Amino acid sequence: MLIRRPPDIASSEITPESAYLARREFIVRAGGLGAAFVGATLLGGLGCGTDDVRAEPRDGGSPGSATDAVTTAQASAQEKVNSYEDITSYNNYYEFGTDKADPRENAQQFRTRPWSVTVDGLVKKPGTFAFDDLVKPHTVEDRVYRLRCVEAWSMVIPWQGIPLRDMIARFEPLPSAKFVTFTTVLDPQQMPGQRRQVLDWPYVDALRMDEAMHPLTLIATGLYGKPLPNQNGAPLRLVVPWKYGFKSVKAIVKMSFVASQPTTTWNASAPDEYGFYANVNPEVDHPRWTQSRERRIGEFRRRETLMFNGYADQVASLYRGMDLRRNF
Ligand code: MTE
Repeated sequence: MLIRRPPDIASSEITPESAYLARREFIVRAGGLGAAFVGATLLGGLGCGTDDVRAEPRDGGSPGSATDAVTTAQASAQEKVNSYEDITSYNNYYEFGTDKADPRENAQQFRTRPWSVTVDGLVKKPGTFAFDDLVKPHTVEDRVYRLRCVEAWSMVIPWQGIPLRDMIARFEPLPSAKFVTFTTVLDPQQMPGQRRQVLDWPYVDALRMDEAMHPLTLIATGLYGKPLPNQNGAPLRLVVPWKYGFKSVKAIVKMSFVASQPTTTWNASAPDEYGFYANVNPEVDHPRWTQSRERRIGEFRRRETLMFNGYADQVASLYRGMDLRRNF
């Protein structure tokens, strides 16, 4: 990916978002041995104590839901959430241009209704679902996650969305389904970036089934309590907080359940630079820059990058026994 100088980001918080933050009370203390352990081992060196970003269920979640696993496993929160302005003005969305400011400028007229998502491949219940039919059966939850881009910048984003595993359960995947691919809409008329061969369009990425079914994995439909802005991937996008941001496919129109590891856009474009797994890993550098540190948008000094972006206690077991240097 292209590395560019960051534009100036206004650090002042605007009224509606402070009101939103106060209302939702994002920053809370949570207990649990796991949380204390993560704080001590992963965040200790940063001077953050046992603070971390947590997921917050909306309406408390339901017993046995994905939410329970997330909230009990996660550490307490004390990282500053990025401003709405940061999150919606500094974007990667090559369909709308390669500069960070391009998506906001060029995506405003993008039509996100009507919208449908096709589910195909190794599932008992394939189909094409209108946006409302896909989303309405589910409880939308609040999740505050770090987003770490492979380009070594990061943000903390208050998403609203649906645990992907709840949605996937409705399609009844077959045991032979080992991966799921996510495809962005192909619409060069509306997406000026797709008229140039910057990438092999449409944008595709994929997860292993156990990653897709992990309780942290989210289909986001909003942020800051508002519908997802076009530049952030409206009307629905993937969010996989322990992986580099390029795995989080925007404007999804297709989910395909397949038996073997699919070809993905960034991996195909530069396999030495962008692995299939793309787990945030401070010990495995990008060939052209270090991944050990990152620039949190809105901060002056670089901070240390955390293994699995700070979610190691929840996801490291998915990769037990794997060589993370080879499977980067
Ligand atoms: N999805 C599509 N369709 N096209 C893209 O260019 N960029 C990815 C990811 N999803 C991208 C995409 C990258 S590199 C990152 S870091 C995140 O979106 C950025 O998400 P944000 O702009 O909402 O912060």
